[in-house]
Amino acid sequence: MDVMNRLDEKKFRHVDDLLAFISIYDDAARTQAYLELLRAHAHVIENRVCVEAGCGMGLFSAEMAKLGARKVYAVEQNPLMAAVAREQLRQWPQVEVVELAIQEFEPDHEVDVLVHEFYGQFLFDEDLAALGDLRFQPGLVLPDGGALYCSVLPATAYLDDTVTAAALRELQGVLVSGLFAETGDEFQQKALSWQYGQPFAMRQRIDLHGREGDLLAFALEVSHAGHTICRAGECDNWALVWTPRAGDVCEISFIPDEGGHDIEFRWLS
Ligand SMILES: C[S@@+](CC[C@H](N)C(=O)[O-])C[C@H]1O[C@@H](n2cnc3c(N)ncnc32)[C@H](O)[C@@H]1O
Repeated sequence: MDVMNRLDEKKFRHVDDLLAFISIYDDAARTQAYLELLRAHAHVIENRVCVEAGCGMGLFSAEMAKLGARKVYAVEQNPLMAAVAREQLRQWPQVEVVELAIQEFEPDHEVDVLVHEFYGQFLFDEDLAALGDLRFQPGLVLPDGGALYCSVLPATAYLDDTVTAAALRELQGVLVSGLFAETGDEFQQKALSWQYGQPFAMRQRIDLHGREGDLLAFALEVSHAGHTICRAGECDNWALVWTPRAGDVCEISFIPDEGGHDIEFRWLS
């Protein structure tokens, strides 16, 4: 879904985000994995105070209400999205939609559980870092971990009549999401990781010395308590990210931007 007509910049940003976040509900695997995670924690949600950070349309806030939460704060910074959530969550009196960035939210109660889906395709390129900047301390964060894995592959196994060797050469230095749909390879090398409550690096070097292959692929993994919840490629919401290999060491860094982070990527050697 794309906006076709000219809008003022602020309206465009809000509508563009609204459309992007509506489209995540096409990913039934992601939604199901999250619902299962919440249901597996029903005992810590029932009668407790919960927060959904970035509630979108409020599906997971509604689920926490169904699981017996005493109070749910559905916090959403996009005003258009918050209006949709308010409408969707009207039937749950214990759910309060708060139109605010989660970093600015100061709840009136101790928070037992915080649920979020702030994972970008490149781990930190959405708003995961915001969870390091909260004004309250939740008892439990669901999910509490994530990682970006990488793999080096032979381009010849992927090139076709559309993505030719020449086209790939032109993409040097460019990270392309969804260039190819899947790899048959295991993503074994951890490039970046995030664990709630622990320091994390927003700049990281990746050393590929000794690894054969001229195509580099990245895959996000969402985890909780060390168990995988969803993976790029298996959940449509996160595509694999690709770039032609142009060296043995590359560097990724994340630059704060309005409502998230931009990615900088370069080859060092
Ligand atoms: C990927 S969507 C997830 C929506 C919903 N939680 C779900 O999983 O279905 C992320 C949502 O978080 C909102 N968001 C992003 N950063 C935020 C922040 N710092 N504070 C509050 N909301 C935020 C976005 O506007 C968007 O609606």
